[in-house]
Formats: sequence, C-alpha cells, structure tokens
Amino acid sequence: MTVAVVGCGVIGRSWIRVFTRAGLPVRVWDVAPDAVRQALEWHAAVAARDARGGTTPTGVTSLEEALGDVQWVQESGPERLPEKQALFARMDAAAGPDAVLASSTSTFDMTEIARGLPGASRCVVAHPVNPPHVVPAVEVLGGSSTSADVVSRACDFLASVGQTPVLLRRYVPGFLLNRMQAALVREAISLLDGGVADADAIDAVIRDGLGLRWALMGPFGVANTNADGGAREYFTRYGASFRWLMDDLGGTPTMDPALIERIGEGVDAIYPGVSHEALREWRDRMVERITQLKRQDHP
Ligand SMILES: NC(=O)c1ccc[n+]([C@@H]2O[C@H](COP(=O)([O-])OP(=O)(O)OC[C@H]3O[C@@H](n4cnc5c(N)ncnc54)[C@H](O)[C@@H]3O)[C@@H](O)[C@H]2O)c1
Repeated sequence: MTVAVVGCGVIGRSWIRVFTRAGLPVRVWDVAPDAVRQALEWHAAVAARDARGGTTPTGVTSLEEALGDVQWVQESGPERLPEKQALFARMDAAAGPDAVLASSTSTFDMTEIARGLPGASRCVVAHPVNPPHVVPAVEVLGGSSTSADVVSRACDFLASVGQTPVLLRRYVPGFLLNRMQAALVREAISLLDGGVADADAIDAVIRDGLGLRWALMGPFGVANTNADGGAREYFTRYGASFRWLMDDLGGTPTMDPALIERIGEGVDAIYPGVSHEALREWRDRMVERITQLKRQDHP
C-alpha cells in the first residue's frame, strides 16, 4: 500500500510519520515547495528519535506525481471550503480508481467537499487529533455519496497503521471531539471569567483529577466505574444532581481581547519561564508513554 500526503504543515507532517513508521512508502506534496522540505526535515528529526524506525518519505513536485499509484491520500491543506473542494477535484482527477481520498478537515462535511465529483463515493473525512503521530484517535465519517465500503476500508486502514478510528454515523459541526472539548472549554472560561478560581486551579481539576481517569475511559466508562452497580445505578443516583448542575453551567463566553488576555496571564502563571516548545515536547513524550502503557495493560 502506497500513501500520499497532500499538504504538509503541522498536521500533514505528523501524518507522514504515522505512515512511515507503519512501513508504508509515502509521497509528500505541498503547494509550497518549502513546506515539503521543512516537513521532510521535521520527519527526519522525529524518526531519528524513534526506535520503531520505518520508511523514508519521498518529496515530489506535483500533485499528479504524488497520487500516481497510491491507495490512500491524506489531504491536510488549509481549512477553507473552496480550497478543499478545488483540491479534492484535482485529487479525484489524478488518483487511480482504487485510491481512497481522505481529508483531515476539522469542520467540513464531506458532502460539501466532494459535491458533484465523479469520485465522491471514495471521499471520506479522517479527522485526526493534533499531532496524529502521538495521539491515535481519528474521527471517520463519509458524506452523503461516500460508499459504506470506503468508510469501512478507511477504518481498517487507519487501524492497520496504529491509529484508533472513531466512526460517526452522521455529520455534526465539530464532530465528536471538538464538540466535547468546546463544552468543557466554555465552562472553564466561564469559571475564570466569573472569578470562581484562577487558571491553575481550573486546569488542576482536569490534569490531576478528571483527566487521569479520562486518559483511560470516557464519561460513560467513568460513570460505569463510579457506582458499585455501574452506569445505570450511577445515573439513577446522580441524575438529578447532574440536571441541576447542567442548568447552572455558564453561557458562551465573549472571547473579547480582555478576556483572552486574562486567560493568557493565567496560563503564564502556571508555567513561568517554560517555553511553549519545551511544554509541547514534554506533552508529546508523556502522551506517547501513556499510550504505550495503555497498550500493555488493559482490562
Ligand atoms: N492544527 C490542528 O490542530 C488540526 C487538528 C486536526 C485537523 N486539522 C486540519 O488539518 C488541516 C491542515 O491543518 P494544519 O494545522 O496542518 O494547517 P497548516 O497551515 O499548518 O498547513 C497547511 C498546509 O497546506 C499547504 N497548502 C495550501 N494550499 C494548498 C493546496 N492547494 N494544495 C496542497 N497544499 C496546500 C500549505 O502550504 C501548508 O503547508 C486542516 O484541514 C485543519 O482543519 C488541524
């Protein structure tokens, strides 16, 4: 199986590593030749630190060359609908009949991206979490013309390269992950804005509280382990409390500059003097270690 990565910024370059460490030949193309060079340099540095080894990706100078004889195309261009539509039209024309065309889009419905394309049935959303070579979940969903076989092949393929495909039955803005993230971030900002606690305290209840369990199981799985009788007993016992709290949750924040500045000051106080780069490297290293632990020890 040969793979093409189309668009190799933050997300595309990380996809390259997902595919190379799975042992697949990978072609890399971006409209900006500099982006290809930078992504290949980034990949070489990441691969050198990774004992799993893998293949060496090939940078190419045209979309047609990238898609020549590949079976999977992972598109990670800019998040603008007309550009995604134009790119998918070009990809559909250039790719062989057996290739699946997947988009990393965070927001768009494949029904819109692939509207009117002859090959709309082979187009699918494969939305990763940043960075996909570290975080395995990938949200998968088709558009109204996507064939069920392509959706199922997409899930199989993503699992075969070590990712965790998460299937959605229908489109909703934000898919699953960003909707749930937005619900929590809304409340975090509301609590900060209302002066209930500082940013460190709000982060602490996630990183040293809920987040420790959430690294192992989701909200339903946690409920299932929080009452001796499992999720039914939990939601029966605490249903009324949850409803009371849900009715009390904060509204949509303004996101005005003054509020964003308060968030920034709050974050600066949590990590004084630590660079963003150092934090990101630590985060990625720890997420990989936690993921490995989960693979070794599961119920
Ligand atoms: N950054 C994230 O956290 C994140 C997470 C999940 C999904 N995504 C999605 O992944 C996609 C890429 O996001 P990103 O953060 O990597 O953006 P980015 O700006 O870092 O990279 C986009 C790349 O696309 C290239 N490009 C522009 N026009 C192109 C074209 N016509 N053909 C090919 N390449 C082109 C640019 O040169 C750039 O290298 C978006 O759809 C985004 O919504 C992003």
